[in-house]
Amino acid sequence: MKDIDWAAMADLLELEGETHSPYVRQAVEELEDPAPQRILDIGSGPGVAASLLAAAFPKAEVTAVDGTPELLARAEERAERLGVEVRTKAAEFPAGLAGLEPADLVWSGQVVHHVGDQQGALDLLAGLLAPGGALTIVEGGLPERWLPRDLGFGRPGLQIRLDAAMADRFGRMRDELPGSVRVLEDWPGMLRAAGLADARSKTFLVDHPAPLADGPREFVRRQLERQRKGLADVLDAEDLATLDRLLDPADPAGIDHRQDLFLLAAKTVHFGRKPQS
Ligand SMILES: C[S@@+](CC[C@H](N)C(=O)[O-])C[C@H]1O[C@@H](n2cnc3c(N)ncnc32)[C@H](O)[C@@H]1O
Repeated sequence: MKDIDWAAMADLLELEGETHSPYVRQAVEELEDPAPQRILDIGSGPGVAASLLAAAFPKAEVTAVDGTPELLARAEERAERLGVEVRTKAAEFPAGLAGLEPADLVWSGQVVHHVGDQQGALDLLAGLLAPGGALTIVEGGLPERWLPRDLGFGRPGLQIRLDAAMADRFGRMRDELPGSVRVLEDWPGMLRAAGLADARSKTFLVDHPAPLADGPREFVRRQLERQRKGLADVLDAEDLATLDRLLDPADPAGIDHRQDLFLLAAKTVHFGRKPQS
């Protein structure tokens, strides 16, 4: 976790959260009965999900928990701007979770894969639940799609090659985490191993068709800029030139101007419940 500068990613994380928010809204509908009273968003980042949870359950006490104070400040600003109540608590995984009070709903989006021992992290998250409480984690799903396979120049299939390079980098990131343990990433199975019942997965689409509105378009730009920088030594010259054209604000075929730019993602949410006794 220390190798990633989370505070520097605040804008990107908030933009990503906003762009992907349709899946959070759909997943929250699965959690309405019984309505949770105490909610923890573990690894909340800038609090997009925490604010959506607070809006969906206005009577609940919602706490955003994260190891990056700058992101918690964002979560507070966001909640205030949206007129919802979200508390914040700075805590580093795993030690900082020990003092938290039991919750009826623990939400943790795209966080567990940043912890070396993923089963250990799920065990800890399950330990935060009151009897009957629900644990909801977001992991897996499908990589995003933004452009047609043949985008009119360069070698077709750029996104598949970006996915492959990103998957490789993800594997290295996991290998280098402190206490990294390899585990069969069967998320419902891992929720069961953490002592939870009714484990299941459901996948939600994030579908922003072309032409893209400004927010999702900016998100695609930020992602592409990050990939251009981070994958410069693994992509070939032709793909790098294609990315440069896409990112050139003056190029009519660049992402700032394209009418065919879309954003399609599939986010998988895994649910489990702590037995009543
Ligand atoms: C990929 S972001 C996810 C943000 C948000 N949950 C979402 O779905 O967009 C991961 C978040 O987990 C936090 N995080 C990662 N590892 C952590 C650790 N060991 N202790 C505390 N927070 C951690 C980071 O600060 C960051 O906000």
